[in-house]
Amino acid sequence: MMRIDVVVIGAGAAGLMCAQQAGYRGRSVLVIDNAKKPGRKILISGGGRCNFTNHQTGPQAFLCTNPHFCKSALARYTQQDFIDLVDRHGVNYHEKTLGQLFCDESAKEIVDVLLTECDWAGVSLQFQTEILSVTKNDEGFVLLTSKGEIVCQSLVVATGGLSMPKLGATPFGYKLAEQFGLDVLPTRAGLVPFTLHQADKEAFASLAGVSLPVAVTAEDGTRFKEAMLFTHRGLSGPAILQISSFWLPGEKIHINLLPDLDILAALKGWAQAHPAQELKTVLGRELPKRFVDILVDLGQLSNKPMRQYNERELDTIATLLGDWQLLPNGTEGYRTAEVTLGGVDTNELSSKTMEARQVPGLYFIGEVVDVTGWLGGYNFQWAWSSGWVAGQYC
Ligand code: FDA
Repeated sequence: MMRIDVVVIGAGAAGLMCAQQAGYRGRSVLVIDNAKKPGRKILISGGGRCNFTNHQTGPQAFLCTNPHFCKSALARYTQQDFIDLVDRHGVNYHEKTLGQLFCDESAKEIVDVLLTECDWAGVSLQFQTEILSVTKNDEGFVLLTSKGEIVCQSLVVATGGLSMPKLGATPFGYKLAEQFGLDVLPTRAGLVPFTLHQADKEAFASLAGVSLPVAVTAEDGTRFKEAMLFTHRGLSGPAILQISSFWLPGEKIHINLLPDLDILAALKGWAQAHPAQELKTVLGRELPKRFVDILVDLGQLSNKPMRQYNERELDTIATLLGDWQLLPNGTEGYRTAEVTLGGVDTNELSSKTMEARQVPGLYFIGEVVDVTGWLGGYNFQWAWSSGWVAGQYC
């Protein structure tokens, strides 16, 4: 039987950050993972370049049943703290758009930073280890694993969410929370592409691969202005991934196809400047031509020379282009989702330490908790921040 101060379950972003912090405090720390190697989601993130944080990180970029919960951790370990860390390790990076920071070379550099820090902090790591049971007694937590029994004073759960089961995602953290009497809020896929109903899928099939700048609004009023991508199965691209986290089945999404224009004024201007040109021709300068053709074929737009439209008709066209509505069939689910919404109820945890209020010594950090960031490096920042604070106390 092995005795150790802290066991961290999950060698992902949050777990590795927490482990090094606890190690630097002089705690003996063991990180256990069922996978063959650490940080697999980090390695594939950001197209292999890891969007590791966002300059604009703040509580506004997170979904949580208690919107105040994430404030403490985000304020105590900020995006600048993580930037300073990667600077100290000589990792080169660049800002892409909207404050998103990516590695110049490879996401592996971020995993290397975390592993180097764990090494300096004296943290041990053990892979391909299954946890068969966890119990608590007077000595602490007793873990029965496929590689033997471990007793620890503090147990940190950093097993992530359900997205990408191919990468080894498991519901372990949620089940453990429930075993210890903590509430777990229903989970669903977030930052995930939409699938379309058969008729829409067929209508827009030829647009697969076409991307356009839009502003998408969910029925709760949340709006994102980014690119939308047509795919073979439906819709993707940053604007769609963002809005998917705010979408519930049966709800429509509202898409402004020309978000940078006062559309009615533009239509009137085009009618004056090019009275003989057809709507299709005029709109084809602003939108993908094939898309305009499809809208005409579907009867959503009537096509004739600009001079023939009266004011009411121009108004109808402006409304269609500014509030084009689609009813998604669903999402692609956990198979392709970047994150899992819901999870361990934050009411069960201290926002300062991430410790379960009713179970001293038990901590939950990272994506397993009901805190989900927007697309853009926010989810890693939550992993770093929540992992860091837990590491100061566990
Ligand atoms: P994470 O999933 O990283 O780690 C959990 C660990 O627990 C894993 O190592 C797993 O093997 C282990 N584990 C699970 N079950 C276990 C069990 N039963 N026993 C033992 N170990 C177990 N975010 C962002 O900010 N910027 C980005 O660029 C991207 N890009 C991106 C791309 C893709 C394709 C995905 C799927 C996700 C992203 N994300 C992202 C989201 C980001 O990857 C995610 O939010 C963090 O990895 C969450 O960190 P955690 O440490 O909580 O879980």
